[in-house]
Amino acid sequence: MDSSVQFWNRTAERYARRPVTDEAAYRTKLEITQRYFRPDMDVLEIGCGTGSTALVHAPRVRTYLATDASHRMIEIARDKLSHTDVSNLEFRVALLDDLDELYQQFDAVLCLNLLHLIRDPGAAIRKVLTLVKPGGIFVSNTACLKDTKSWLRPVAAIARLFGFAPFVKFLSKQELVNHLQEAGFEIMHTWVPENASDVVFVIAARPSMRHEGSSKG
Ligand SMILES: C[S@@+](CC[C@H](N)C(=O)[O-])C[C@H]1O[C@@H](n2cnc3c(N)ncnc32)[C@H](O)[C@@H]1O
Repeated sequence: MDSSVQFWNRTAERYARRPVTDEAAYRTKLEITQRYFRPDMDVLEIGCGTGSTALVHAPRVRTYLATDASHRMIEIARDKLSHTDVSNLEFRVALLDDLDELYQQFDAVLCLNLLHLIRDPGAAIRKVLTLVKPGGIFVSNTACLKDTKSWLRPVAAIARLFGFAPFVKFLSKQELVNHLQEAGFEIMHTWVPENASDVVFVIAARPSMRHEGSSKG
């Protein structure tokens, strides 16, 4: 098993108990996301952790599939779900790379606090594009540490060596935007929380077929 997945299995219970760092920013991101939701949407969340966001969003859409690489995260998420009456939400253990069969099945895909944990975020974003229906959206929240916290790199590497941290990719905001645009997404909305300038929340759209055709000339 990948050492990062082992890390998330080990820390799932602590992660579930941890309060949201910035409640106001979290609420704003939920609210911005829900502006793009419609009741007939099929939604996929990748790297859902213990499912708190999925439980909030699912009642706003038709179906909601929430996946995570860590079976411990998903066990906790399923337990939370069992104490609710939400009936359109499924939690599944899966890596982003395991989702190929879900080609173009979703009106919206969410990756919240995930892309900076993946070695090749550009490849991950290209993979996400294949899961989004033309005209659908991609919602991401990503720590972009390269611009202001590059000095953390050696600390992060040592912490990872000793099993105290997962792999972290040091991305800049511009690199993230470039990856999204190079994959074929159009940026619709970006938001940087006041108290966390290293984080960027982005809503991007996969152009509809007609638009793709016209942009190719
Ligand atoms: C920082 S947590 C974020 C959890 C949740 N999205 C949130 O915002 O609280 C990252 C999650 O991504 C999962 N993860 C890491 N790499 C993954 C991958 N390649 N595919 C799917 N999930 C992954 C981890 O198991 C962990 O639960």
